[in-house]
Amino acid sequence: MPDSIRITALDTAIDRSNFSCGSEPLDRYIKQFISQDIKRNLTIAYGAYKEKRLIGFYTLSATSIDTGELPEKLVKKLPKYPVPAVLIGRLAIDISQQGKGLGSVLLMDAIKRSIRGGELLGIFAIIVDAKDEKAKSFYEHFGFQPLERNALRLFLPVQTAIGMIAG
Ligand SMILES: CC(C)(COP(=O)(O)OP(=O)(O)OC[C@H]1O[C@@H](n2cnc3c(N)ncnc32)[C@H](O)[C@@H]1OP(=O)(O)O)[C@@H](O)C(=O)NCCC(=O)NCCS
Repeated sequence: MPDSIRITALDTAIDRSNFSCGSEPLDRYIKQFISQDIKRNLTIAYGAYKEKRLIGFYTLSATSIDTGELPEKLVKKLPKYPVPAVLIGRLAIDISQQGKGLGSVLLMDAIKRSIRGGELLGIFAIIVDAKDEKAKSFYEHFGFQPLERNALRLFLPVQTAIGMIAG
């Protein structure tokens, strides 16, 4: 990642009105709704900045997974009640910066922060919500697997993520 790009907690004082990732709901979310979610402690957001311009963002929240949604091989080793997870709820890169590796850098940053969260709380897996098949294939490229009952929601066990980051 070039030195001129930094990833920090989203600075809501910095103008976001020009951000455009090609997905209208994601653009609307970053422009209109993210501040409310942050204020209400519903999510933590991180932004990638090039100088003072927002060029990418993602959000992290706590969630849980019904173990019935996981592949049978994993379910056998888990309790019957829902297991804790971190949700990467939204991740987007400005169109001007897509295809240059920033999505991968932001996803790795989100995974590392999720692992760190797991050092304070029990976290079994990292969950992502893909907005469509293209986004799903982006996450599959990094080892996420679809849940059984919702093909656009994918998971990565934290143990696998730790191995991925270490390796
Ligand atoms: C999807 C998105 C986040 C990818 O970001 P990006 O910066 O363009 O992606 P990168 O350049 O970092 O690509 C990283 C890797 O993923 C691969 N990749 C990118 N998009 C992919 C896709 N749709 N399917 C499979 N692989 C994909 C790239 O080939 C690259 O592979 P490599 O590391 O082996 O070379 C970005 O295009 C975006 O913001 N899209 C609109 C919003 C969106 O779909 N968000 C997804 C969550 S809903």
